[in-house]
Amino acid sequence: MCGIIGYTGTLDAKKVIIEGLKSLEYRGYDSAGIALLKEDPEHSLYIMKEAGPVSVLEESTKEDAVKSGCGIGHTRWATHGGVTDQNAHPHTTGRVTLIHNGIIENYRELINSYNLAEQLVSETDSEVALRIIDYYYEKYQDPVKAIKKAVGVIIGAYSFCIMFAGDPGKIYCIRNVSPLVAAASETGALVASDLTAIVPYTRDYFVLPEDTIAVLSKEGITLTDLSGNPVEPEMLHADWDVESVKKGGYPHFMLKEINEQPEALENTIKPRIAKGLPDFTEDGIPDSLFREAKEICIVACGTANYAGMVGKSIFELLMRIPVNVHIASEFRYEDPLVGPGTLCIVISQSGETIDTLEAMKLAMEKGAKSLAIVNVKGSTIAREADHVFYTHAGPEISVASTKAYSVQLAALYLIACRMAYVRGALSEQAAAAFLQQVLKAVPVIQELLKNVVGMKHVSEKMVKAKDAFYIGRGLDYAFSLEGALKLKEISYVHAEAYPAGELKHGTIALIEEGTPVVAIATQEKIYQKTISNVREVKARGAYVTLITKKGKAAGSDLCDIHLEIPEIEDEFTVFPVAVILQLIAYYTADGKGLDVDKPRNLAKSVTVE
Ligand code: M6R
Repeated sequence: MCGIIGYTGTLDAKKVIIEGLKSLEYRGYDSAGIALLKEDPEHSLYIMKEAGPVSVLEESTKEDAVKSGCGIGHTRWATHGGVTDQNAHPHTTGRVTLIHNGIIENYRELINSYNLAEQLVSETDSEVALRIIDYYYEKYQDPVKAIKKAVGVIIGAYSFCIMFAGDPGKIYCIRNVSPLVAAASETGALVASDLTAIVPYTRDYFVLPEDTIAVLSKEGITLTDLSGNPVEPEMLHADWDVESVKKGGYPHFMLKEINEQPEALENTIKPRIAKGLPDFTEDGIPDSLFREAKEICIVACGTANYAGMVGKSIFELLMRIPVNVHIASEFRYEDPLVGPGTLCIVISQSGETIDTLEAMKLAMEKGAKSLAIVNVKGSTIAREADHVFYTHAGPEISVASTKAYSVQLAALYLIACRMAYVRGALSEQAAAAFLQQVLKAVPVIQELLKNVVGMKHVSEKMVKAKDAFYIGRGLDYAFSLEGALKLKEISYVHAEAYPAGELKHGTIALIEEGTPVVAIATQEKIYQKTISNVREVKARGAYVTLITKKGKAAGSDLCDIHLEIPEIEDEFTVFPVAVILQLIAYYTADGKGLDVDKPRNLAKSVTVE
């Protein structure tokens, strides 16, 4: 959460930083700020920060001609302290200016032990860190020593970018848990929370190792560990370009990303096919991992967790092996029953979700083997897991996850297929046929995306709704969880997903004349059972959208809108259904005139517990 950027070089730092903040804004958008060290004899500081989106900051700074090649910028997702100008970053005191992403857990103790209470001008934990660094900087007159001393007493997650007025043209960075990537280009050195702010300048970058001090200057970047030894970073190359972080003619990133799903699926699946079977040799994932597992636990948050719910059904169906799906933030505190013999599959688009990361570490401590399904290359979860399966969705900018969900599903289907094959639960022929069905999701989604009239039609009802229900049984219920989340997070319509058969045990009391119900009935073996539940809500006045496979009779006595998915076998219907549910949410939020890509209170990458 929070987007941070630092730049020093030959370009106009203000421009680089404002542009960078625009691309990082999806990480948090409560407030934004910029600090520049001016190229005047005193190296005086230009600072502007205020509550509101980056566009507000851009407007406020528009007329200010600041001659500077060195600065830092921040876009905030509030944790400590309200959304105010004062709490916005950068924070500055004396000769030190800082931006921070993360949470300082012991900030109250630090306020007491360093007698800071009287000095603080904001309510943030970040300012406490700033004042400690300033204290040591004044004491030792040495930026590196000041940083080392400060991180020696700070407990928590942080990435800091710091400018010292006594050391112009340089930006000092250090991180613990919270992400930072850095790159040196022909026009200077950059550091940012993620690659989106860096790719306009270079695609070669590195993840700043933890407990390493990076010093950026226009000549490049030097890294040293806390004992002063040089550190050689592991260079990475971004396999997507600057166009991928633009809207490309779409009104919103979300719509663009929904439409990118066929390509994202192909990119994730096709490189992993050898002799007609899923093959993870290139990923370095050994078959022994699958052969030796006695049970599977899946850990993730939000959409990734709902992908895991679908995965559970597929694993259990193919292998009859127990699979438990855990919400990462709960897993950590429930003394989970995992250990040697457990394969812990961790799912995260960003690879930075702190709850998921910590849950994975706990599972590993208990002896489980971890396999992470991650979209962002070089992210913390990817680096810490025993094995990584990278999804190739490209950057997902919209806060609402869409293409990342589809590729997470594809990853789970491929893993289930390979695992079932190496364990002898699927013959070679059956595994190859299964894989062909996963691949079929690509043309099926392409076909679906050609005609979105039905989804727009559903959204016309949803925009007026206060509550909505998504119902289904079995796999269809797992899909409905994601459909309800999508609607809630971007359209602010309260939505609940319910197992269709469970409604009558209480929730059906909420159905009244006109309540929108999206019923998913794509599973043949329980089709009639679900339809009976649909009749129950219809009889009580619900406005029903029914999603089925082709060729199902659905008269007006059963539903108000009938959406059919293109032909695909029952186990794979999640792919087209997901797209339908995403589009219903998208058109509802858009129809309400909401900021689809930046829903209130949310941030893309959740790096706080
Ligand atoms: O980056 P992650 O996949 O770990 O993120 C997990 C959730 O925060 C995320 O899926 C969230 O639920 C989505 N924004 C919902 O669309």
